[in-house]
Amino acid sequence: MIISSANDYREAAKRRVPPFLFHYADGGSYEEKTLQNNVSDLSNIALRQRVLKDMSQLNTTTELFGEDLAIPAVLAPVGALGMHARRGEVQAAKAADNKGIPFTLSTVSICSIEEVAPQINRPMWFQLYVLKDRGFMKSVLERAKAAGCSTLVFTVDLPVPGARYRDMHTGMTGPYKEIRRIIQGVTHPFWAWDVGIMGKPHSLGNISHYMNKQIGLDNYMEWLSENFDSSISWKDLEWIREFWDGPMIVKGILDPEDAKDAVRFGADGIVVSNHGGRQLDGVLSSAKALPSIADAVKSDLKILADSGVRNGLDIVRMIALGADACMLGRAFVYALGANGQAGVENMLDIFKKEMQVAMTLTSNKSVADITSEALVDFSKL
Ligand code: FNR
Repeated sequence: MIISSANDYREAAKRRVPPFLFHYADGGSYEEKTLQNNVSDLSNIALRQRVLKDMSQLNTTTELFGEDLAIPAVLAPVGALGMHARRGEVQAAKAADNKGIPFTLSTVSICSIEEVAPQINRPMWFQLYVLKDRGFMKSVLERAKAAGCSTLVFTVDLPVPGARYRDMHTGMTGPYKEIRRIIQGVTHPFWAWDVGIMGKPHSLGNISHYMNKQIGLDNYMEWLSENFDSSISWKDLEWIREFWDGPMIVKGILDPEDAKDAVRFGADGIVVSNHGGRQLDGVLSSAKALPSIADAVKSDLKILADSGVRNGLDIVRMIALGADACMLGRAFVYALGANGQAGVENMLDIFKKEMQVAMTLTSNKSVADITSEALVDFSKL
């Protein structure tokens, strides 16, 4: 199959990864309206073509929290990423490292912090979900720090899980043989969570124990409601601050008032995000939410944005709407499922080239140059 875009990787992943896993990544919550709007609202934003300004010296790099990024993008935290390819978190992290951008390890990963971090050169980012067991959270933060993680991404839009109909249909499980074929050492989707997220070394003992059980969506939902904490509040930011002195980003902001609270409670950055349309269906797309948030807090903290970014043009659009950088979600998950590390590296090359074309034809030589001027202002037409 010829691959020329992230959408091609989606098709390739659909053929390769087990259906329940593809749909877990591809799907959103409820009617999937927000998922669709994320993509269509962003891609419908008109770029403003400008020409003849000598764009031979183009620069896609940027700086974020003292780190150099080859393009203004970070791989987003994705739970169970390690199921899409063998030791998938390691493969994705290496791809990001080779292409000069940070990788964020999700709290609910297959590979542990200690497995992934030493295999890359640049510091890893770590994403935190607050679980009821605060002692465990504290130990996870300490582990992330000990492994040299630079930036903490505190995800706040999952106090309760949104219902995802596709997962109900697949039951979120599949034939063990098929799963085993793809992921070395993992025989069940949620075994790693079942034995304590990222807590235990992966051993055959654990696997054979969990091979004998039928585990699926019910167990996953039960695990979520038992462990995720719906009582989280801004006060938890203060608690996290006691154990984390590096940059801290709050992920899942969709409203200017919440963005202002993030500033008030000392966040260094936010991610404007609706979790890729996987939580509350019907909320604003990130592209629509971003401009007013940027108006409210742009000078106070760093703004990242995700949900719907499918190519390099979309990165330019997000920057023009007020973001400092983007997070990439499904786009790289598809590439990982389709062709592992090489797939993610190729996808990042494609995104960079697409960015270069978009920057050239909107006449923006650097990321800092990209402003709302890069977009068509329909009120002036
Ligand atoms: C996610 N996302 C996510 N976010 C997070 O903070 N922790 C997590 O563990 C996960 N897990 C996860 C799994 C899967 C399969 C997907 C697709 C997404 C959300 C993710 O970080 C990001 O916000 C969205 O993926 C962005 O939307 P797009 O670009 O995928 O549309």
